[in-house]
Amino acid sequence: MIIERLSREHRNIETLLAVLERELEVFDRGDRPDYEVIRAIISYFELYPELYHHPQEDLVFAKLKLRDPAAAAKIGNLTREHQKGAERLRRVAQAVDGVLADREILRQNVDNIVRDFIESERRHIMMEDRDFFPAALKALEPQDWTEIASASINHDDPLFSEAAEETFDELRARILQLEQEAEAERH
Ligand SMILES: [Fe+2]
Repeated sequence: MIIERLSREHRNIETLLAVLERELEVFDRGDRPDYEVIRAIISYFELYPELYHHPQEDLVFAKLKLRDPAAAAKIGNLTREHQKGAERLRRVAQAVDGVLADREILRQNVDNIVRDFIESERRHIMMEDRDFFPAALKALEPQDWTEIASASINHDDPLFSEAAEETFDELRARILQLEQEAEAERH
C-alpha cells in the first residue's frame, strides 16, 4: 500500500532527523560532531526524499486535487513545500561543507541552518501524516492507486525499484551503525 509505505518512510526520516539533531548538539557544545554521519544523512536526504519519496507524494497529491480540490487546497502547495525542503537541505550541505573547509562561519549560523531544516522537515511530515494522507485515503479511487503504483514501477529510473528500497534500508542501517560507534567513542 502506497500510503503505508510513505508513512513508514516518514518514520525512517524522523529517525535520521533525530540522529542529525544529536550530532548538532555535539556541535553546539563546541565539540567535533561525526561529520561522516552528518554527510551520510545529507546524502540520504539528497537521494531518497528528493528522487523517490516526494515524487510519489506529488503523484498522490495530483490525484487528490482532482478528486477533492477543497481538501487539496487546505493542504496548500505540496510540491512547493518539497522544493523549499530541498533548498533548506542545500543550505545545510553548504554550511557543513563550509565548516569542513574551515571557512569562517559563525557556529550560530550553522546551528540555525541545520535546526531550521530539522524543524521544517518535522513540521512537514506531521502535516502530511495528519492532513494529507488521511485526505488521500478518503478521496482517491482504487484506480488512482493503481495508476500511481504503475507510474512508479514503470519508471525507468532504477531508483524506483524494490532494489532501490533495499539500498536505502542498507544506507540507513549504515548511518545508524556509524552513529552508534560515534556515541560509544564519545562516552
Ligand atoms: Fe512525506
